Amino acid sequence: MLKLQKITAGYNKIPAIMDISFTINPGEIVSLIGANGAGKSTILKTISGLITPLEGKIFFQDKEISKLAIHKIVELGIILCPEGRQVFSSLTVKENLLMGAYTKSKIDHQQLEFIYTTFPLLKKRLNQYAGTLSGGEQQMLAIGRSLMAKPQILLLDEPSLGLAPVITKELFSVINLINQTTKIAIILVEQNATLALKHSNRGYVIKSGNLVLSGNSSELLNSSAIKQAYLGEIN
Ligand SMILES: Nc1ncnc2c1ncn2[C@@H]1O[C@H](COP(=O)(O)OP(=O)(O)OP(=O)(O)O)[C@@H](O)[C@H]1O
Ligand SMILES: [Mg+2]
Repeated sequence: MLKLQKITAGYNKIPAIMDISFTINPGEIVSLIGANGAGKSTILKTISGLITPLEGKIFFQDKEISKLAIHKIVELGIILCPEGRQVFSSLTVKENLLMGAYTKSKIDHQQLEFIYTTFPLLKKRLNQYAGTLSGGEQQMLAIGRSLMAKPQILLLDEPSLGLAPVITKELFSVINLINQTTKIAIILVEQNATLALKHSNRGYVIKSGNLVLSGNSSELLNSSAIKQAYLGEIN
């Protein structure tokens, strides 16, 4: 469904990720794990067109998308839910959700209902300013907003960041539920390797901009190399 072929990308022509190749199949949850600064967000930014690759190609359903403008990539259904949530603080919950559908000619009310069912907590707070929501609620809103763009692939950047373990657990159950009910493919970026692997089908380990390990999540969970890679000790 999505294929990265030898992608090198970075900032000011300086590579932050090198020679990254991976695939994601329809309906899968794939996790990208690695320490601070490994290049996880850079990979998501490259897929979503915020950064143009220096080398390599990206294909979505066999069509090359490496050089497409951001809005074209959004229109294809590749939607980034960014690190740090980035909700519009001075807009209400409802307004934030509607903003998610900005590339659509009309609001899909069925999708809005689906989001309300998935996140009942948001439905109770539709008129509250997003900036006054708790961290967990903001993350749910950010995911809800992304869903309004009708993703085929959802790129989730560190959804657990700064959340209490109990909220994180709840959030990840919802992420799995969304995947099961809608069959949306999800790329899950996490520093919390164990958490990500427990909630994904396959995983890729990124270290210093390189892909160092990949496999089924259950295999990776039991691998000592993963713990080393995660701690930055793999050579
Ligand atoms: N806008 C930028 N300009 C220049 N360098 C950047 C920029 N954003 C990130 N980098 C660099 O690119 C490298 C990879 O950063 P990236 O944000 O992709 O890491 P990450 O794996 O997402 O880390 P974290 O878990 O802390 O979010 C780092 O060395 C970082 O300093
Ligand atoms: Mg990041």
